[in-house]
Amino acid sequence: MPSKVLARAAATFWLMAVLLGGQASSAAGALDAGGEECRTVPQLPSHVQLNNGVSIPRIGFGTAGLGQATEEAVAVALTAGYRHIDTAQAQEWYREGAVGRALKQATSTKTDLSPREEKGESFTAMSGATLLPREHVFVTTKIHPRDFGAERLGAMVEASSSNLQGVDLLLLHAPFCWPGSCPVNPAPWQDAWRQLEDLYSKGAVRAIGVSNFSESLLRELLGMATVAPAAVQNWMDPFHQDRAVRALCAEHGIAYIAYSTLGGQWAHRPSSSSSPNPVSTDPTLITIASAHGTSIQTVALSWALQSGAIILPRSSNLDRIKGNHQAFMKVDGAFSSLRDRGDRQSGDVGDGGDSAKQRCGTAGESNNGVVVEVFLTVDDMRAVDRLDGSIGN
Ligand SMILES: NC(=O)c1ccc[n+]([C@@H]2O[C@H](COP(=O)([O-])OP(=O)(O)OC[C@H]3O[C@@H](n4cnc5c(N)ncnc54)[C@H](OP(=O)(O)O)[C@@H]3O)[C@@H](O)[C@H]2O)c1
Repeated sequence: MPSKVLARAAATFWLMAVLLGGQASSAAGALDAGGEECRTVPQLPSHVQLNNGVSIPRIGFGTAGLGQATEEAVAVALTAGYRHIDTAQAQEWYREGAVGRALKQATSTKTDLSPREEKGESFTAMSGATLLPREHVFVTTKIHPRDFGAERLGAMVEASSSNLQGVDLLLLHAPFCWPGSCPVNPAPWQDAWRQLEDLYSKGAVRAIGVSNFSESLLRELLGMATVAPAAVQNWMDPFHQDRAVRALCAEHGIAYIAYSTLGGQWAHRPSSSSSPNPVSTDPTLITIASAHGTSIQTVALSWALQSGAIILPRSSNLDRIKGNHQAFMKVDGAFSSLRDRGDRQSGDVGDGGDSAKQRCGTAGESNNGVVVEVFLTVDDMRAVDRLDGSIGN
């Protein structure tokens, strides 16, 4: 079957599984050679195809607030299998230079890769081997509002591009300055969007989009854009679900990237909650996590993935960096080129095609789908959905 048809079948199966309350995760019942009953595991495609054909991995690594740990954390993330890294020019929160150093250490411009190297089997960033081609990693950076309209903006994007060996997705970090963050009034975001369109048209970046945009601002952008935004990156966690923007993105074929899904934003809003981070203490999430024998964090990330978002879990803990990826990705041939994937025509890209993989007898299976280890049922999804807005922002 052609991959396009398989990918569609995968998406359809997954949707059916969601609608059927996750029954697909236990309904298989096929027997493997040893007579053991195989569990059928629902999958999401591992990549989403942006509206300009560029492919973005559904699981990204967030790097805000990692400070001096950034370089090591990114190196560990690349070794663990993340192929999507999120950073920004804003030095208040990010270390774009450190992300670049980790990428440089891990990547290579070597083109004559052996089949084993091509599959990434001999790559480990920590060991210093340099066998991961840069085009196999998707990197996002963002322009701070204080630089909107700046004559030097082109030069700044060039600097980011040099730091990161190319920018895959360039975002306006926010439509307006955060209080106290801009020494002088910058140009309006509309002017900055025109600058982004210009940079994109010149081939300086592979895709453009926005972050921290409300529904009304996104509608305004859609009304004026000559290059449609490829992605929106906004805050999405169980208590702040950003439904209006997600619906608008779905309607217009814009990829939605969720940030702070593990509750990172609540640390900045201590007065609005009795808990510093309700995502890690909520009784509903605890009940769902216990029922599935997993962590609250995996439940929150599964919920975002099953809601259609791309996720960016961030951790400074090396085991959690690995664990957050392993909870979702069961990848064989993980290093196949993102640019190859971008040539495909279907909306979502999943190599395996089958949305449900037999769990037993997996040796040698080719599986580039995101395996949602903890597949939330319709009831679970509804229970999480009901948490929206239950804590004041
Ligand atoms: N566009 C924007 O304006 C914007 C704003 C915010 C964030 N972002 C992006 O989104 C990314 C993620 O958001 P975020 O940084 O706010 O944080 P987050 O992913 O919501 O949460 C990170 C917190 O969760 C903890 N954690 C991670 N994995 C865990 C696990 N398996 N078990 C228990 N705790 C776990 C981390 O602690 P440990 O470090 O101790 O593991 C950290 O305290 C950012 O890094 C950034 O790339 C973008």
